[in-house]
Amino acid sequence: MSVRIVSEFDPTADFVLFAGDCLDLLRQMPDGSVKLVVTSPPYNLGKAYETRLHLDEYLAQQRAVIDQCVRVLSSRGSICWQVGNYVDNGEIIPLDVVLYPIFASLGLHLRNRIVWHFGHGLHASKRFSGRYEVIMWFTKSNDYTFNLDAVRVPQKYPQKRHFKGPNKGELSGNPLGKNPSDVWEIPNVKANHVEKTIHPCQFPVELIERLVLAMTDRDDWVFDPFMGVGSTAIAALMHGRRAAGAEIMPEYAAVARERVLLASMGKLRVRPMGREVYDPTVSGPSTPPKVVHLSGSVAQPLET
Ligand SMILES: C[S@@+](CC[C@H](N)C(=O)[O-])C[C@H]1O[C@@H](n2cnc3c(N)ncnc32)[C@H](O)[C@@H]1O
Repeated sequence: MSVRIVSEFDPTADFVLFAGDCLDLLRQMPDGSVKLVVTSPPYNLGKAYETRLHLDEYLAQQRAVIDQCVRVLSSRGSICWQVGNYVDNGEIIPLDVVLYPIFASLGLHLRNRIVWHFGHGLHASKRFSGRYEVIMWFTKSNDYTFNLDAVRVPQKYPQKRHFKGPNKGELSGNPLGKNPSDVWEIPNVKANHVEKTIHPCQFPVELIERLVLAMTDRDDWVFDPFMGVGSTAIAALMHGRRAAGAEIMPEYAAVARERVLLASMGKLRVRPMGREVYDPTVSGPSTPPKVVHLSGSVAQPLET
């Protein structure tokens, strides 16, 4: 299907791709318009796209963005802030620990601190190698969207039955699958990953798909203030949601546009959600990459 891409906020578009500072895009967005804010902000590590700041200054910048994200969030909406560690002279500062008070001071409710565990990265020599990051999931209120059935995973023993009591003989687990828990085993996007682009730290699309499916409904807006190469937008559009994102580096914004266009033509390859993690000690068939088919909400001619 075609996806209508616009460069300024427009409530009738499929995808708002803003090539600039997220605060400038946020200024255009109405109060309560977004169902899910999901992002991985700069970690203040001095990557090509960020100026390393004193931690207090970094936190003040984050607060300004978070404050606006809360304003645009709908009352049943969620914010997922995915972070790792800030590293200063070999000492780690977990960013969720220092960012949590900002969210709490804005009245948000922490629902899960999801541990995203992955297999690859730099090998540390003076501490254990870092192999997880976290997603802080906050809601704006106590009445929030959570579509658990949309994200259930297979039961370990699907045929297990009650062996006594009134339900004797019946399946003991939910036939739709089990709750995926708050520890997620999903490969990160390194050189051999099918989704790898020029970006040094992009999300795997499947990580965001689970959040989109659980925390939004069709046609809802999903917003990523630090969009990178558009992984959030792809996950949202794949499931018939609308996407908005800001990216300050023009080369990453261009890749985001390219990836969404490829997806709209059915040509973008992504790692499928729920695919087993490769285990070299076990041989057997594995699920091949899948080609994305967008099911966006508004089928209209493409605006480029
Ligand atoms: C950790 S990366 C996010 C990568 C993204 N999750 C993906 O899958 O591609 C953070 C991104 O935020 C961008 N960025 C930094 N400051 C920004 C700002 N003020 N407004 C918009 N984007 C910004 C950086 O250029 C970088 O691409």
